[in-house]
Amino acid sequence: MADPTPQGWRAVDAYFTRTLVAQDDALIRAVRDQEDAGLPAIEVSAVAAKLLNLLVRISGAKRVLEIGTLGGYSTIWLARALPDGGHVDTIEAEPRNAQIARSNINRAGVGERVTIHVGIAADVLPTLGGPYDLVFIDADKESNSLYLDWAARLGRPGTVVIVDNTARGGDVADEHNTHPQIVGVREGLTMLGEDPRFDATALQTLDAKGWDGIAIGVIAG
Ligand code: DHB
Ligand code: MG
Repeated sequence: MADPTPQGWRAVDAYFTRTLVAQDDALIRAVRDQEDAGLPAIEVSAVAAKLLNLLVRISGAKRVLEIGTLGGYSTIWLARALPDGGHVDTIEAEPRNAQIARSNINRAGVGERVTIHVGIAADVLPTLGGPYDLVFIDADKESNSLYLDWAARLGRPGTVVIVDNTARGGDVADEHNTHPQIVGVREGLTMLGEDPRFDATALQTLDAKGWDGIAIGVIAG
């Protein structure tokens, strides 16, 4: 079997996306409006967004916590997976991002199911009440272990915990790379591996966003 090439994995990602991931106008416009507003194009890929959506449905989650809203693309996918009465609390540090996200989320028809908490996550998290059924961590990587600690506190046994960006183009496995973001990713993974509150794994991803990874775990108990 050939080694993966960027051209090859991008072709496969495009094939999976068009074969499996239907995106309506609201999702396409969410990404476009985010880009037009000058926000970075660091939302999850379509296939990863669909995975988030499926994990909400497979786990039967009703209360979802997202740390890192950006323009609301992943938030829409999470919110659309919820049963009636379900809710997403999403935390965004940048008021401007939150404004774009609010408009994208409303246009996608899930405005009433989503609360955007504008503020630094470390300040907002202590104001929230659990238990959440699923937590998606996708914010400043330096704080991953702090966010995992809050996921454990605000979760319950069986809560699904997902962390985006766990491979970072291979940097996570390069012990000479001491960039604070990479150190933060490693600290989060070490916590998922060693802290008895979690049981987790991680998968590398090759998709429209390049070479990265996603960790998926459960709160033990
Ligand atoms: C970055 C952040 C993300 O959450 C992501 O998915 C990709 C890149 C970043 O900060 O560079
Ligand atoms: Mg991310």
